[in-house]
Amino acid sequence: MNRAAVLDGIGSCLPPRVVSNGELAATLDTTDEWIVSRTGIRQRHVAAPGTATSDLAVGAGEQALKSSGEPVVDTVVVATTTPDRSCPATAPAVASKLGLTGAAAYDISAVCSGFIYGLATACGLIATGTADRVLVIGAETYSSILNPRDRATSVIFGDGAAAVTLRPGGPDEPGAVGPFDLGSDGNGRDLITVRAGGSEQRLSGVEPAPDDQFFAMAGKEVFWRAVLRMSESAQSVLGRAGLAVDEVDWLVGHQANARILQRLANALGIPPERHIVNIAEVGNTAAASIPLALADAHAAGTLHAGDRVLLTAFGGGLTWGSAVLTWPELDPTTRRSP
Ligand code: UT7
Repeated sequence: MNRAAVLDGIGSCLPPRVVSNGELAATLDTTDEWIVSRTGIRQRHVAAPGTATSDLAVGAGEQALKSSGEPVVDTVVVATTTPDRSCPATAPAVASKLGLTGAAAYDISAVCSGFIYGLATACGLIATGTADRVLVIGAETYSSILNPRDRATSVIFGDGAAAVTLRPGGPDEPGAVGPFDLGSDGNGRDLITVRAGGSEQRLSGVEPAPDDQFFAMAGKEVFWRAVLRMSESAQSVLGRAGLAVDEVDWLVGHQANARILQRLANALGIPPERHIVNIAEVGNTAAASIPLALADAHAAGTLHAGDRVLLTAFGGGLTWGSAVLTWPELDPTTRRSP
């Protein structure tokens, strides 16, 4: 029998400070009405200065390990656009803070598709026997790279982290993850970018221009590509899995914009009652977006063992990816009380 990766734990961590649209409208030329109607976002969580991505990753990782009932993994994968430092990777620090010094640990840089890319590499490690138990975390502090004067991006992104644990198992048991579909188009790399700080625009000891220092996104150009790539990728992964759209119980799209999610669902022919959407409460949390939506839906009791879940994401790179998984029976104490 093929060795597959099986999801057996989940956790999340949001920084406590909630920033409403109204609070943003006090300093930016925007309104609650614009943000809600154009994006579906009502609030986001924002990390305090001094809180690093690894802090949120550790919070989510701790919860996921606890919910799996097994405190040890041999590999830690952190998907992030906002690492603690440009060198070294964030994952080794996360592993050590979780008491997992010695574990293999590396970062995945695929922006909003990062969690699906991370999940795919983790499943590969388990399938080949290179790893037994893997912790995959999506974690972001976008507040550290947003231009506070850019209303087009500041209203969209939020901070947060979420994580899953994976163990070896059979491809047909609840929790089995896969198949995957992954893709990229580097011709679009300028559409979602932080220009300065890498090898292209090197550190000179002089501050780069603010536009280059901060995250920038060509929102309109990204919008239609997100709908197109996520729907193509989702259809392709369903083909690989041999599943029809009506065999999917839940669609979990990258929480980029409620209007993108609506169009994605329409393109796939999945009705609204089968979408998992939490963008109103957390905004776009990039690599944390998909696992956070899963963790929220699990906590709310929406996901049940045996449910077929379709994940699809799109982000900077440009990158995209999709996966299918069957929801497992998880520790019921990780659900919110009704
Ligand atoms: O996570 C990775 C993938 N990311 C995405 O997929 C995001 C994709 N893009 C989007 O979600 C949307 O394009 C945005 C939410 C970024 C922008 O929404 P839009 O409906 O595409 O607006 P727009 O860029 O076409 O701008 C429309 C107008 C412009 O004003 P003018 O030129 O028509 O006078 C903008 O300047 O809205 C203006 N605008 C705002 N107004 C109030 C842009 N941002 C704001 C704002 N508040 N925050």
